[in-house]
Amino acid sequence: MMNVVGFLFVPLLLAPGVLTLERAEHDYYKYHPMEKISTWMTQMEKDHPDVVTIVDYGKTYENRTISLLRIGLKSEAKKKAIWMDCGIHAREWIAPAFCQYFVRQILQTYKTDAKMEAMMTNMDFYVTPVLNIDGYMYSWKDISTRLWRKNRSPGPSGGCYGTDLNRNFDANWGTVGVSSDCSSNIYCGRGPISEPEAQAVTYFVGSRKEDFLCFLTIHSYGQLLLVPYGHPNFTAPNYEELMNVGKGAAEAIWKVHGKNYTVGTSPDVLYANSGSSRDWARMQDIPLTFTFELRDNGTYGFELPEDQIQPTCEEAYHGALHIITYAHDKTFSGAAAAAAATLWTMLLAVGVSGANLL
Ligand SMILES: *[C@@H]1O[C@H](CO)[C@@H](O)[C@H](O)[C@H]1NC(C)=O
Ligand SMILES: *[C@@H]1O[C@H](CO)[C@@H](O)[C@H](O)[C@H]1NC(C)=O
Ligand SMILES: *[C@@H]1O[C@H](CO)[C@@H](O)[C@H](O)[C@H]1NC(C)=O
Ligand SMILES: *[C@@H]1O[C@H](CO)[C@@H](O)[C@H](O)[C@H]1NC(C)=O
Ligand SMILES: [Zn+2]
Repeated sequence: MMNVVGFLFVPLLLAPGVLTLERAEHDYYKYHPMEKISTWMTQMEKDHPDVVTIVDYGKTYENRTISLLRIGLKSEAKKKAIWMDCGIHAREWIAPAFCQYFVRQILQTYKTDAKMEAMMTNMDFYVTPVLNIDGYMYSWKDISTRLWRKNRSPGPSGGCYGTDLNRNFDANWGTVGVSSDCSSNIYCGRGPISEPEAQAVTYFVGSRKEDFLCFLTIHSYGQLLLVPYGHPNFTAPNYEELMNVGKGAAEAIWKVHGKNYTVGTSPDVLYANSGSSRDWARMQDIPLTFTFELRDNGTYGFELPEDQIQPTCEEAYHGALHIITYAHDKTFSGAAAAAAATLWTMLLAVGVSGANLL
């Protein structure tokens, strides 16, 4: 049977275009409306049942289900975790495209790459392709709404819509780089986590915050890697580490297509702000929290042409991988070293010669 199948398929694969295979491949280098992304998520789970699980963890203001893909290999040991969300800002279409690419890459890589296999055994990846679903769908509605940024909840007195979800988290909420006017693009909402989308992340991540080594939130544009904090008067306790890891990621990005990404806190390289999810995550003691501002640097802005999806994703993948690998190795190589040291001590204690064990 295997041979028959192989015999039939090899010529088909060798003759592209002669016959179309039964299911159209997902095109990772196009922007997709929400329905397509949801279908893709379901397909990922079907195609990789042992590795991918859809987890529903909240509702949007308009009652749409917020879901993530949990991706990891089975392990007896308690696992650590990596967070990645895309599409918290509706108009930043390259971000959801990146989350889809990232998922595809790690699912392809682990089969042949022992390092990725180890990372997926020690850690689960929690990837939300579109967090602000209502806003994303609104940005797809027509040309006049293409640049919508916020969610779609109505303001306190009606007549205006939308809270900037990346100003709504409980991190120095409402203090700097925000507006209390609901018609503003940086309206921070009625109070900290007043919005269901910000609540979903807060409760999901907050309920297992000690598991998360890394929190990556993906935006565009500007070619920046932002570290906490957005408030100019607070400095992350591991600021030096964040900057070093961020610079390593920027170098990894640069090596792919020569794009310069600038690393720094938001007040240092962009503008001061408060209530961001990145700052909130760092305040929960998640050590490595970064905002990615993907391409470009202003030529097309939010309307990045589709022919730049592939290079943007390729370079950002290597940047993200640098951070994730650092987070992994810091935790797991350390643990392995500690285990080895313990074994060494035990061997010495029972009087076994270690001379030939190195
Ligand atoms: C969402 O669902 C709740 C509970 O069913 C309902 O009360 C509310 O009106 C719905 N909101 C919208 C915007 O449809
Ligand atoms: C930061 O601290 C200075 C000095 O105390 C103060 O004047 C300033 O208002 C603070 N900045 C913010 C954004 O709170
Ligand atoms: C990238 O940054 C480096 C160092 O800051 C600079 O020398 C180089 O000109 C930059 N390249 C581009 C394309 O902007
Ligand atoms: C933006 O990128 C383009 C192409 O890489 C470069 O020519 C230009 O100088 C950059 N502009 C800024 C403001 O960095
Ligand atoms: Zn953004």
